[in-house]
Amino acid sequence: MDIKDKVAIVTGAASGIGQATAVMLAARGAKAVILADINADALNKTAAMVEENGAEAVKSVTDVSSIEALRAMLADTDARYGRLDILHNNAGLGEGHPDWPGITPERSAAIIDINLRGVILGTQLALDLMKKNGGGVIVNTSSGGAFVPLPPQAVYVATKAAVVHFTKSCAPLAESHGVRVNCVCPGLTETQMVQTSGGDRVAPWLKPMYDSVNLLSPEDIATAVLELISDDSKIAEIVSVENT
Ligand SMILES: NC(=O)c1ccc[n+]([C@@H]2O[C@H](COP(=O)([O-])OP(=O)(O)OC[C@H]3O[C@@H](n4cnc5c(N)ncnc54)[C@H](O)[C@@H]3O)[C@@H](O)[C@H]2O)c1
Repeated sequence: MDIKDKVAIVTGAASGIGQATAVMLAARGAKAVILADINADALNKTAAMVEENGAEAVKSVTDVSSIEALRAMLADTDARYGRLDILHNNAGLGEGHPDWPGITPERSAAIIDINLRGVILGTQLALDLMKKNGGGVIVNTSSGGAFVPLPPQAVYVATKAAVVHFTKSCAPLAESHGVRVNCVCPGLTETQMVQTSGGDRVAPWLKPMYDSVNLLSPEDIATAVLELISDDSKIAEIVSVENT
């Protein structure tokens, strides 16, 4: 897909990987980027960066775990642009502090609702709008944690493994709806999620790895996302971006 003049939604766009993807889409010529996040204040910064890079920015205070909120965002996108070409299902939540199993059941539910329910519902609700104009591309953000047991983040990695399997099962949507669904699995990336994994610091269980690998930048992950969007041969691809 040529990104020029396309309409994109990025969830979790207020910071980190989502912010980097939104800005990169703008720099590659997207017409508009809908910036979805629950952090209304931080969306202002991403919106300014997207506009500086030449695209229209639409701030959308959207909780991806809410069907109603997702429906409203897609209806607004349809009303504004009559199309949706790209969706990056990227918003995410980890255990944070304390870690599993010390977190509240409510926190466990929120992790599942945001990381898995949000990706599945976002994909499902986007299909009709994408189909209206011949199709589109969806990229889901999973994690390198999808492939290895990670006891302090048991809920998080379970949702991320499920996102990989969901993406693979979406392969036929390329044929039926013209929608390619792909997945990026970032390694350890320098974002607020990592920096606050232990409350106001990097979690003790993560610190040894944090100190010993070359951390990825949000732009490293955005580059992989843009490749999955651009390359029409990528269908149900699971791409890992690994630390060195
Ligand atoms: N940073 C890493 O090392 C790493 C590694 C693997 C995967 N990931 C994944 O990358 C994605 C982006 O995370 P990040 O590292 O950029 O962290 P981040 O904390 O910088 O960004 C996450 C964003 O998601 C938003 N968000 C949280 N709950 C939401 C909700 N209910 N609705 C809408 N938005 C919500 C937050 O406000 C935040 O802006 C996540 O899915 C995360 O699991 C990150």
